[in-house]
Amino acid sequence: MKRVEVAILGAGAAGMMCAVEAGRRGRSVLVIDHNAAPGEKIRISGGGRCNFTNLEAPPERFLSVNPRFAISALRRFPPSAFIARVDRAGIAWHEKTLGQLFCDGSAKQIVAMLTGQMAEAGAELWLSTAIEVVEQDGDFVIQTARGPVRAARLVLATGGKSIPKMGATGLAYRIAEQFGLEVTDTRPGLVPLTFAEQELATLRDLAGVSVAARVGCGRIAFEEGFLFTHRGLSGPSILQISSYWREGQPVTVDLLPGTALGPYLRAGRAANGRMTLLRTLAAVMPEKLAQHVLARAGMAPGARLADLSNAQADHLGAAVHDWQVRPVGTEGYRTAEVTLGGVDTAGLSSQTMEARACPGLFVIGEAVDVTGWLGGYNFQWAWASGWAAGQAV
Ligand code: FDA
Repeated sequence: MKRVEVAILGAGAAGMMCAVEAGRRGRSVLVIDHNAAPGEKIRISGGGRCNFTNLEAPPERFLSVNPRFAISALRRFPPSAFIARVDRAGIAWHEKTLGQLFCDGSAKQIVAMLTGQMAEAGAELWLSTAIEVVEQDGDFVIQTARGPVRAARLVLATGGKSIPKMGATGLAYRIAEQFGLEVTDTRPGLVPLTFAEQELATLRDLAGVSVAARVGCGRIAFEEGFLFTHRGLSGPSILQISSYWREGQPVTVDLLPGTALGPYLRAGRAANGRMTLLRTLAAVMPEKLAQHVLARAGMAPGARLADLSNAQADHLGAAVHDWQVRPVGTEGYRTAEVTLGGVDTAGLSSQTMEARACPGLFVIGEAVDVTGWLGGYNFQWAWASGWAAGQAV
């Protein structure tokens, strides 16, 4: 039987970071993953350039039943600590927008950095290895396709349920429950929203149209890219709001944030009264969208600005700035970037990620009920929680 001090299930962002840290502390470490390659989500992330962190990672950019849980790990291993590693590895990067940091070259550089550091730290990696059962008889005994492994400490780093095609299974939740931990409700996050057929019929022509919009749900709103798709809505603003949206809720869209359309139309009426409504709107948004807005507002595209009453100008303004849409669902785990919910933080130490009810068992990364906004926050949580557990295992 293979014996190690630390077995880590999952060679993703969190598992590899934990392996590096535990190995550097002199622990014997084995990382087990059923995929043929480590860090597959890192490889495809950020359009192949990996948005590996954000310049800032304040707790309010993370969702959890206990939003304060993430604070300790994020303080002890902040974005600057990961950036320093990226710099030491000679990986060039740039800030794209809103503090989001991407590799100049390829996300594969981040995977190579982590696997290189794991090897240097003496951590062993078993790939293409199915994990069958985990038992405890003092130590943890993991039955794998390559035979049993005995470990004093077990780290669950198998992520969430998003993108099953890439190897996501929800295994961490099952093992956590087996050892007495609670798992909160899980649902897809950072995911496109879908419409009912009836709504789609009026929006289908807009597929592919994108604008910068402000999208709100309840008390939160995001101003970022917004995209019409063949099945509903996507783009960063929609992915962000999807993590807050619940079935049945409306989403409010401002298609022209930063401009007050009502006053703009009134001013235009005096200066360019002969201009049609369609031409006026098409000057500030894609023409197809302008047509849609006018149809929704019940106004003729060929009507002249001069004939627009104040009330009609305000009505059109509301159709643009305060569009209420009612998605019926999401694209689901098939395309979701993350899983909301997970192993309940109430059962874990925020310092070490160790399970209170089961000493020696640790849970890190996306498997934990901590989910970041779009923008490098999810990797930062994976690095920080992996680092924290790596100091303790
Ligand atoms: P992760 O999912 O990375 O790793 C889990 C590992 O466990 C995998 O290697 C998997 O094969 C393995 N595993 C699962 N079940 C198993 C089983 N039953 N047996 C054995 N092994 C098993 N975040 C961000 O901050 N910036 C970004 O740019 C992006 N971009 C992005 C794009 C896309 C398309 C997706 C899907 C996701 C992102 N994310 C992101 C989110 C980010 O990828 C995610 O939050 C982290 O990868 C989570 O890291 P973990 O290590 O927790 O899980």
